[in-house]
Amino acid sequence: MLARLELDRFAIRPATVADAGAIARVQARSWQTSYRGILPDQILDTMDTARRASMRREILLDSDALNLVAYETTFGELVGFCNAGPSRRQGGHVGELYEIYIVDHAKRYGLGRELFEGTTAWCRAQQMTSLIIWVLEANTYARRFYEAMGGREGPRVQSSVRGYPVIEQSYVWDAV
Ligand SMILES: CC(C)(COP(=O)(O)OP(=O)(O)OC[C@H]1O[C@@H](n2cnc3c(N)ncnc32)[C@H](O)[C@@H]1OP(=O)(O)O)[C@@H](O)C(=O)NCCC(=O)NCCS
Repeated sequence: MLARLELDRFAIRPATVADAGAIARVQARSWQTSYRGILPDQILDTMDTARRASMRREILLDSDALNLVAYETTFGELVGFCNAGPSRRQGGHVGELYEIYIVDHAKRYGLGRELFEGTTAWCRAQQMTSLIIWVLEANTYARRFYEAMGGREGPRVQSSVRGYPVIEQSYVWDAV
């Protein structure tokens, strides 16, 4: 639904390896506001963007994965990204949206929906039959988005983020 994107201010495109540094910065900015009060400040205020950029390069080089970015059309500045591939817990026939992050000033312009629909289209092209997303249980903002996209609550697991215990809730789409 690109027409929903206000005055063509934002758009999405496939990511390239050259986006690695900018994606790492978007990820840090989005975490620092979206996870404030959900994860400890110490984790959010010590994010190593250089290390994340290097890890991102590896992710972007994985040809079995989908990597999309959202950008501001005027200067091309990245404002969001998503990364998807086969489900880590359930295998190749199930797609998983591993990450979807948008910076605050670009939220609620339809980019999340665009990235999500890009992911479901990619899953269909990969012959994947369903989709799963894992979200921090306390991340009610993102959970409302997944519910708006038609996801139903699936399994929950205990996990950790840099040693901090968290509960992850899944959302499942039985058909893509
Ligand atoms: C969650 C996120 C990806 C959603 O992206 P977005 O671009 O803000 O969402 P969209 O504008 O595409 O929303 C599409 C529809 O979803 C629904 N929606 C989105 N966020 C919602 C919320 N917090 N509460 C209720 N409904 C919501 C609305 O129906 C919306 O349509 P509308 O704006 O016409 O009412 C984005 O806000 C984000 O990056 N959040 C922070 C990072 C994060 O928590 N990521 C998930 C990690 S698992």
